[in-house]
Amino acid sequence: MKIYGHRGAKGYAPENTMSSFLKAQELGADGVELDVQLTQDRQVVICHDWKIDRTSNGTGKISALTLSALKKLDFGSWYGPQFSGEKIPTLAEFLDWFRTTDLEANIEIKNGLIIYPGIEKEVLKLIEKFQVGERVFISSFYHPSLKLIKEMNPYMRTGALFACRPVNPLIFCRETGADFLHPHWESVDAPWVRQARIRGIQVNCYTINVYEQYLWVAKAGVDGIFSDFPDRKTCCSECQT
Ligand code: G3P
Ligand code: MG
Repeated sequence: MKIYGHRGAKGYAPENTMSSFLKAQELGADGVELDVQLTQDRQVVICHDWKIDRTSNGTGKISALTLSALKKLDFGSWYGPQFSGEKIPTLAEFLDWFRTTDLEANIEIKNGLIIYPGIEKEVLKLIEKFQVGERVFISSFYHPSLKLIKEMNPYMRTGALFACRPVNPLIFCRETGADFLHPHWESVDAPWVRQARIRGIQVNCYTINVYEQYLWVAKAGVDGIFSDFPDRKTCCSECQT
């Protein structure tokens, strides 16, 4: 089972910053997950919330701020003084580092409350520029983005995120062309995971931070997990499968 560091290594460093991604790498994660949005001047930046209030010393919507305004802010101090001065990373900055690693990356497009028209194209352009497509997969709760990605690049692997317990989650792959299913851990059960895997659909599950959650999804046979603590695979022998 693969372990992807959620927003880098959110349990140890400010989420979605370069410190967090470096930490996940240091801890031995197989890959990292990151969330992307568009600034007012259409730059792809890495941040989870549509507003910056929770994770910076600034305030406001990402969609209303320019990259240069965002770059003046501190995205580390809220987490701890040792991270003071941490900047919001652009996707380009992340990929420039990522191409030097052997990690995988799951780029999550954060269309939702705010819709960013054209974000899919901007993300694909950057992946192509840095030539890292083979180690990247794109996910979203906003399934129209996944469909769009496949229309623009049928080779780009995609994962359909969901948090409910649908009658048949495989329908998400049929509707969007997604290669993977990315359920919340409570949405997982062995019968549909088996059906997915028979069809070559990988199942990566979020967010696994405690052992009971791990056992639940491991029994169901998922392929990968997202964790804030991507080192915890060594916490006991059962976690090392
Ligand atoms: O991709 C897994 C997970 O990141 C989805 O939820 O809200 O943490 O982006 P969220
Ligand atoms: Mg995410």
